[in-house]
Amino acid sequence: MDIVYLNGEYLPLAEAKVSVLDRGFLFGDGVYEVIPAYAGRLFRLEDHIQRLNNSLNGIRLPLNYTVSDWEAIFLPLLDGGKDQYIYLQITRGYSPKRDHGFPQQTRPTIFAMCSDILPFAGRINGIRAITMDDTRWQLCHIKAITLLGNILLRQEALDQGCAEAILVKNGQAIEGAASNLFAVVDGILLTPPKTNDILPGITRDVILELAKKHGIAHREDLISLEALHAASEIWVASSTREIVPVVELDGVSVGDGQPGPVWHAMDQLLQAYKKSLS
Ligand SMILES: Cc1ncc(COP(=O)(O)O)c(C=O)c1O
Repeated sequence: MDIVYLNGEYLPLAEAKVSVLDRGFLFGDGVYEVIPAYAGRLFRLEDHIQRLNNSLNGIRLPLNYTVSDWEAIFLPLLDGGKDQYIYLQITRGYSPKRDHGFPQQTRPTIFAMCSDILPFAGRINGIRAITMDDTRWQLCHIKAITLLGNILLRQEALDQGCAEAILVKNGQAIEGAASNLFAVVDGILLTPPKTNDILPGITRDVILELAKKHGIAHREDLISLEALHAASEIWVASSTREIVPVVELDGVSVGDGQPGPVWHAMDQLLQAYKKSLS
């Protein structure tokens, strides 16, 4: 990650500087994307840019960049052979005055960097998770940089020896602090439907597509806390960790306490799908 992109320039990381009056710094007024790249190829770029545009529209900061414009910005940051991800952050930019209202003139700050995807051991061995009340805001479909709610929830999980917090709203388990939620209940793979309560994950979409294509019984439906506790398998999914089986929830084994058969099948399908694109 020696070279990063900032507002039209490629710079050494140490030289990339943003004003302390940037609204991203002062208010968390911005959005972000995380886009994996396997063997130098950006994964589901159109979907990530569509979600980015939805996030930008959600904060009233639309930008006129095409998918090709973004691709041209990202490609020089990638290092061909490795599994990596682009982190893209866009804020409402610098304003000379700290004021909650939007500035008269907006010049967004656009920052992108590339990092290696480090293998996550929990993907193979499974992780422990705990359920926690969802204390975040009401616009969780926007990929906002304002992540304090998610961070506090994830840290509470880590403090309790767990790798993820599964968030519960009105008695329904909805997603993880930084992942989408899947559960196998009565032999059917369930994931909560897309609403403002969850981030519409790209990995989630891929899993649903693969389930459809390969005849794995599935449904987008609410998962009550009771159903989650009775599930034979629970997974959390995200771009950088992929599909991670939860083998212990709230101190109790999930199924037989090992990654389950539906997870094995889906993990293989995802790995094959990734290979087929590179
Ligand atoms: C709250 C939340 N939900 C879901 C996801 C999964 O999204 P994706 O599969 O696009 O990485 C993330 C990813 O970071 C997230 O932060």
